[in-house]
Amino acid sequence: MITIKSKSEIEKMRAACKLTAAVHEEIAKHIKPGVSTYELDKIAEDFIRSHGGIPAEKGYPSYQKGVPDFPGSICASVNDEVIHGIPSKRVILRDGDIIKIDLVAYKDGFNGDAARTYIVGKPNNKEDERLLEVTKQAFFEGIKYAVKGNRIGDISHAIGEYVEKNGYSVVREFQGHGIGREMHEDPGIPNYGKAGRGARLEPGMTLAIEPMVIMGKPDILELDDGWTIVTEDGSPAAHYENTILITEKEAEILTN
Ligand code: MF3
Ligand code: CO
Repeated sequence: MITIKSKSEIEKMRAACKLTAAVHEEIAKHIKPGVSTYELDKIAEDFIRSHGGIPAEKGYPSYQKGVPDFPGSICASVNDEVIHGIPSKRVILRDGDIIKIDLVAYKDGFNGDAARTYIVGKPNNKEDERLLEVTKQAFFEGIKYAVKGNRIGDISHAIGEYVEKNGYSVVREFQGHGIGREMHEDPGIPNYGKAGRGARLEPGMTLAIEPMVIMGKPDILELDDGWTIVTEDGSPAAHYENTILITEKEAEILTN
């Protein structure tokens, strides 16, 4: 079931998303060689709590038996880690690393979800920079189609086509999603697919659109920690995500 948010619910979504965006800004200031992803996690948790929110990823349950709940307040994934990297004192950022930060702030009953990718310090090469640009632009290619009357598949198709046209791969096992009172609501929003398919978009829907892009082959693996997703070929990956609101006109990005 896809929830349509009321005016007052949309205001609460705005507040949660505004907090999410502010946390990203705070984290961005601290991304430099020598900092651990554990330190970034603490900065995020303190910032969210001191602004009246809760880090929704902390304690998020795994769907797999025997896998502990997610321990971090952010997902911090480096280089060939695509998503769901666990913050750690042992993961220390170095020049040229590609770091993905994905976080969800929960405030007043609603969730805001956004992910950003950065290169730490000096980039290793131009191709890494292009990977980040293509991933971000893939989001913007998708949101062009996130208008009333269109279908989910229109967004998916635009993202997948753009990424593949640029010579990269989209992750197929994970996708964007509706969001609101729950972090993950209907509908699922794949980053590939056929235009004209799937649910129709209506004003009041809030969606997290999140291209996950691999420089090499699309295949992924899960590490033994039960969370971290890495590329099978070891090539780097990028992730860019915003929570958006479907309106009468163009979609509005709430996590800006
Ligand atoms: N924020 C992620 C998303 O984009 C989900 C994180 S999984 C968690 O949907 F376990 F870390 F919460
Ligand atoms: Co998401």
